[in-house]
Amino acid sequence: MSKTLKALLVGQSEDSLALLKESLAADDLEITATALLGPAALTWARSTEPEVVIVVADESFARPVAVTQSLTVGDPAWTVVVLAERFERELVRQAMLAGARDVLVRTSPPDELRAALATARRADLARRGETNDRTGSTAGKIISLVGVKGGIGKTTTSVNLAVSLAQETSRSVALVDLDLPFGDLAMMLNLRPTGSVMAALADPATLDDPDLLQRQLCQGPAGIHVLPAPLGVTSKNVDSAQVGPLLGRLAGLYDFVVVDTMGGFGEFTAAVLDSSTQTLMMTTPEGPTLRRTELGIRQLSAWNYPTTRLKVVVNRTSLQTGIVSDEVADILSQPVAWWLMEERGALQAAAVGEPLVLMRPKSQLAIGYRSIARQLAGLPPVQKRPFWTSLFMRRPVAELAAAS
Ligand SMILES: Nc1ncnc2c1ncn2[C@@H]1O[C@H](COP(=O)(O)OP(=O)(O)O)[C@@H](O)[C@H]1O
Ligand SMILES: [Mg+2]
Repeated sequence: MSKTLKALLVGQSEDSLALLKESLAADDLEITATALLGPAALTWARSTEPEVVIVVADESFARPVAVTQSLTVGDPAWTVVVLAERFERELVRQAMLAGARDVLVRTSPPDELRAALATARRADLARRGETNDRTGSTAGKIISLVGVKGGIGKTTTSVNLAVSLAQETSRSVALVDLDLPFGDLAMMLNLRPTGSVMAALADPATLDDPDLLQRQLCQGPAGIHVLPAPLGVTSKNVDSAQVGPLLGRLAGLYDFVVVDTMGGFGEFTAAVLDSSTQTLMMTTPEGPTLRRTELGIRQLSAWNYPTTRLKVVVNRTSLQTGIVSDEVADILSQPVAWWLMEERGALQAAAVGEPLVLMRPKSQLAIGYRSIARQLAGLPPVQKRPFWTSLFMRRPVAELAAAS
C-alpha cells in the first residue's frame, strides 16, 4: 500500500488554498499546512517538515519562483513542486532553475496530480540516494557533546548547534537530553514537555514504532524536536545498553540527532560515544579543565574509542583568559577543532529560554555555532566578507579555525 505523502501548500490567497486543499486531499496525500507566498512559507516548511511543498503559481510567476528558490536553498529535506495555472514554457524554465522538481498543471485530475507528486518525491529521494522508508534504513548523523565536568557549555552548545543545523541545512533535527536524570535542556528552552527519555524507554514497543517514539518528543525552536530528560523526580534508571538502540532509532527518523550528556566518562557516556558519528569534546581554556580533558581523551584511547570521531571544542574563549591557543593545544596534546567565544548574552539567552543563535544571531558566538553546524553537515563556510570590512572588524576565532 502506498504511504501518505505529507505536503505543505503555498499560494497567493487563503481562499484558493482552501479550495485546492479540499480537492487534493486523499488517503495518500495529507496537506499538513497551508502558507501564503512569502518568507512565511519557509518557516512553515521548517516547522511542519513536509515531504513535498506545492507552490501554486497563479497569474504572475515572479513571486512563486522566488519562493521556490528560497525553499530549495541548501538541499532541504522536502521536494518542491510548482503547480501552474497552465503550461507555460517560461514558467517551467524558471521553476526548474529555481530548484523545483516538477511543474504540474492545476487543471489535471486530482488523482493524476497526486501520482505526479509521489513520483517527484521518489525521484528526489533517489537522487539523494535515500529511500522513503521511516523504519531506520536511512541513518542520520548522531552528534554527541561530552566533557569532563559540568558547567563547561555542553547543554548551551547542544541547543545552539541543533538550532543551527536546522537553520543551515533545513533538515530534520532531534535534540536529546541524556544528562540523566536531572538534565536541564527542556528548562534551557523553556519547554513544557509531556514525554521524556525515560518514558520512551519504559515500554520496549516504543522503539519499534516510529509514531510512538515521536510522541515522546516535543517541538522546540526552529522546528527541532526535543526528547527531554524527565522533569520530575524519577526512580527509574536508564541502562547503558538502551542508549545505542534509542539513538539508532532516532537516527532513522531524523537527519541529525544532537545528544547532550552529563559530565565525566562513565559507562553511560561510553555507550553514547559508541553510537555517535561524531563527538564534540567540550572544554574551557583553564589549566585544570584542560589537563582533565587531556586525561579524558587518553582514557578514551585506552578504551579503544576511535578518537578520529572526536573533535575538541574550546568554549568561553576570551582575550582575558591569558592562555594562548598554542598552549591550549599543547596541554591537550590534540589539535583544537573549534573555538567558541565568551559571550555575555549566553546567560541572558538561557534565562529567557531562547537559543543565542536566534536571540543574537550576529554575535561572534552565534557565528561560531553556525560555523560548527555547517562543517558537521559538510557545507562550505559562509562567504567571506569583502576585504575592506576586515579593516574594521576582526574575524571571529571560530571562522578562522573553519577557514584553516
Ligand atoms: N560561550 C559562552 N559564553 C558565556 N557563557 C557561556 C558560554 N557557554 C556556556 N555558558 C554559560 O555557562 C554555564 C554552563 O553552561 P551549560 O551549557 O549548562 O554547561 P554544561 O551543560 O556543561 O553543564 C551557563 O550559565 C551558560 O550560560
Ligand atoms: Mg548540561
